[in-house]
Amino acid sequence: MSEASSQVRADLDRLLPLLDAELTAPFRSGEAVRLGEAVRYSLEAGGKRVRPVLCLLACEAVGGSAQQALPGALALEYIHTYSLIHDDLPAMDDDDLRRGRPTNHKVFGEGHAILAGDALLTEAFGVLASAGLDPMRRAEALTLLAEGAGWRGMAGGQALDLEGEKVEAYDLEHLRLIHRLKTGALLRTSLEIGAVLGGATLTERVALRAYGEAIGLAFQIQDDILDATATDADLGKRAGKDAARGKITYPSLLGLEGARHALSEATETALCQLASLPNRNSLAAWARYLALRAG
Ligand code: IPE
Ligand code: IPE
Ligand code: MG
Ligand code: MG
Ligand code: MG
Repeated sequence: MSEASSQVRADLDRLLPLLDAELTAPFRSGEAVRLGEAVRYSLEAGGKRVRPVLCLLACEAVGGSAQQALPGALALEYIHTYSLIHDDLPAMDDDDLRRGRPTNHKVFGEGHAILAGDALLTEAFGVLASAGLDPMRRAEALTLLAEGAGWRGMAGGQALDLEGEKVEAYDLEHLRLIHRLKTGALLRTSLEIGAVLGGATLTERVALRAYGEAIGLAFQIQDDILDATATDADLGKRAGKDAARGKITYPSLLGLEGARHALSEATETALCQLASLPNRNSLAAWARYLALRAG
């Protein structure tokens, strides 16, 4: 195991139990039993938990405790899981496999899948708004979440991604914009919410935002590369779908070698942002690990 992946393993062993203890709690009781089941089905399917873990690590990187950022981390995984359930719908990428299981709409129907996404999106704001946090930090974190998830962030990027399926050719600048919004915005927000909840200085917050921005781009480039090179079993989702749907991706525009080069550039950019942080080892290891991930 490389040094980076053993650091990542140690972080996961420490932080996943914190998340898992709380993640499905809001969806365990309520009148709409089947909707609760639909939400838990996708949350419990696993997933790498990259966004919530990076949120907790950002908080620790500025001297806070993971516990302090937990409501933010939960909110991020709710938004992310909702985005995946909707991304898989027939009206979007029309996928039948996610996190190693049939997609939410294949099991619960499209109506419930849409509502499971709605419930997760709403709960993300609820969990953060009702947490016992410093009111200024809480308000700032909620504002960041709205920006990262909404039409200036993930939802906007998803719209551009869909519109892109019909475009014959476009340039790298436009593709980078789509990636920055559909995936980068929520990753950047994960780091920034962790920073805010940990009481970061302005310099630290700017650094973590820039790190998040770079790692977000790198993450989607690697997602594109894996779509073209990995198997369904590696990914727990269908491989080869981007080409089949005519998506413009880093490999389709730059070739695999060009995409790998762009990935390592974005990773280096992320690493360069960490110099000013008191505790940067984990975030450095995560940047390296995510660029090498195989699933
Ligand atoms: C998949 O995200 C969608 C993208 C933004 C590329 P992840 O690869 O983090 O999915 P899970 O959470 O591990 O299932
Ligand atoms: C999705 O990008 C980004 C989201 C906001 C969900 P993709 O469509 O490439 O994600 P996968 O490959 O289906 O996980
Ligand atoms: Mg998509
Ligand atoms: Mg998809
Ligand atoms: Mg993809």
